[in-house]
Amino acid sequence: QQPQGHVSVILLGATGDLAKKYLWQGLFHLYLDEAGKGHRFSFHGAALTAPKQGQELMAKALETLSCPKDVAPSHCAERKDQFLQLSQYRQLKTAEDYRALSKDIEAQIQHEGLQEAGRIFYFSVPPFAYVDIARNINSSCRPGPGAWLRVVLEKPFGHDHHSAQQLATELGSFFQEEEMYRVDHYLGKQAVAQILPFRDQNRKALDSLWNRHHVERVEIVVKESVDAAGRTSFYEEYGVIRDILQNHLTEVLTLVAMELPHNVSSAEAVLQHKLQVFQALQGLQKGSAVVGQYQAYSEQVRRELQKPDSFHSLTPTFAGILVHIDNLRWEGVPFILMSGKALDERVGYVRVLFKNQAHCVQSERRWLEAQSQCLPRQVVFHIGHGDLGGPAVLVSRNLFRPFLPSKSWTEMEDQPGLRLFGRPLSDYYAYSPVREQDAYSILLSHIFHCRKDSFITTENLLASWVFWTPVLDSLAHEVPRLYPGGAENGHLLDFEFSGSQLFFSQQQLEQLVPGPGS
Ligand code: BG6
Repeated sequence: QQPQGHVSVILLGATGDLAKKYLWQGLFHLYLDEAGKGHRFSFHGAALTAPKQGQELMAKALETLSCPKDVAPSHCAERKDQFLQLSQYRQLKTAEDYRALSKDIEAQIQHEGLQEAGRIFYFSVPPFAYVDIARNINSSCRPGPGAWLRVVLEKPFGHDHHSAQQLATELGSFFQEEEMYRVDHYLGKQAVAQILPFRDQNRKALDSLWNRHHVERVEIVVKESVDAAGRTSFYEEYGVIRDILQNHLTEVLTLVAMELPHNVSSAEAVLQHKLQVFQALQGLQKGSAVVGQYQAYSEQVRRELQKPDSFHSLTPTFAGILVHIDNLRWEGVPFILMSGKALDERVGYVRVLFKNQAHCVQSERRWLEAQSQCLPRQVVFHIGHGDLGGPAVLVSRNLFRPFLPSKSWTEMEDQPGLRLFGRPLSDYYAYSPVREQDAYSILLSHIFHCRKDSFITTENLLASWVFWTPVLDSLAHEVPRLYPGGAENGHLLDFEFSGSQLFFSQQQLEQLVPGPGS
């Protein structure tokens, strides 16, 4: 195919953890998918590190690149060689470095005899560095006329509404809204990315069910078994609510709760409908949150941040928050957002639990039949890990038979002995992706294809903070309950709620000791 233009990808923070773990791999997948379809690529790994050392570190990060299973080994090796040849390290520190980068890109394009298609700058650097980098890109590294610029930003996007607004205003003075791609990597997870297509393809069945008359509650859960060791300086500032609930879990909530646009492929419509959910989130009711902290946390903070022996942190490492949505569809339906570190297992899921009908409880006469009708009815988007290992979409067989989420998903084979929420897999229609893909690979492809609905706009970001800032303020002095950490924490999920109140169950209270100073 005739080359259509040159795309330069500049990865800032090219030798950091995220780049090593996911971004180089994601860029390689982008190259595998797109090379040969008309664009020429160059990849520029950049960091503050001096050239020689930076080059060595980057080479290490590139050593482990791999192809998906369905790519033939010989083709993979060939593509990998090409990718390595197209990837150069450069130190980017001063305004002059940015000017030189721009000149080099222009020279290369001229040499190839191509037009410039665009430039992607991926900011895999701490947010305090954003503004300087943005200034340099804007003043000396914008692409030529007719070519696009995309800058990709990683969270945290502020600490509260005020700081998020400040950062957004600063970035807005350098970039247009359509040039900014704020990443929430949960939006790239396959099960999360299936929520809207699934709702769309099953409109007929879901139209009458997806509302307060039929949904009992929605659980959005990310349990982690890792703790915060090695990251306590970040964690002390953010805690679990800012780290996971404000972004990942709220984004997922909006996909479950939003009104379905007529056309779910319209990024503009999706983003607008998400915004309406943010705007309808009801302020936190008293007693709607439980917060906890694993026992070893304060000690880790004292050690890593050289705090005195008397120091006890109030940062929550676990939170369960009951959220209500103030609209006709969802009035009164509890959305439970829950996440924690150092828990008994690693798993992420969204579970929409439907009400059982009254006759399920009452019918004694035909109890066998009634029992089968009274099995839990649920739709589960299994985000990853846990019993199923990977992503899956499941629908109780007694609810409705769904259409496959899309061609890239396939029916799962029953696995005897495997249970999800107490039910064997045979109780569900269950689907998993034909090819498992990492969230960053998916998002990099969406950036390349300009799929703005997989990213966070300034308006939606600020609307999220309008909800979360008062919640954080009201919990700022809450003393977290201490939990042991590790395998004994299965019970943390069993918190109970009634009306708008969420509380630890009696069983939990017996095991959770009151936090310091309570
Ligand atoms: C990140 C958080 O955004 O998400 C981490 O900063 C957390 O604290 C991680 O561990 C979880 O992501 P995943 O993809 O491992 O579920």
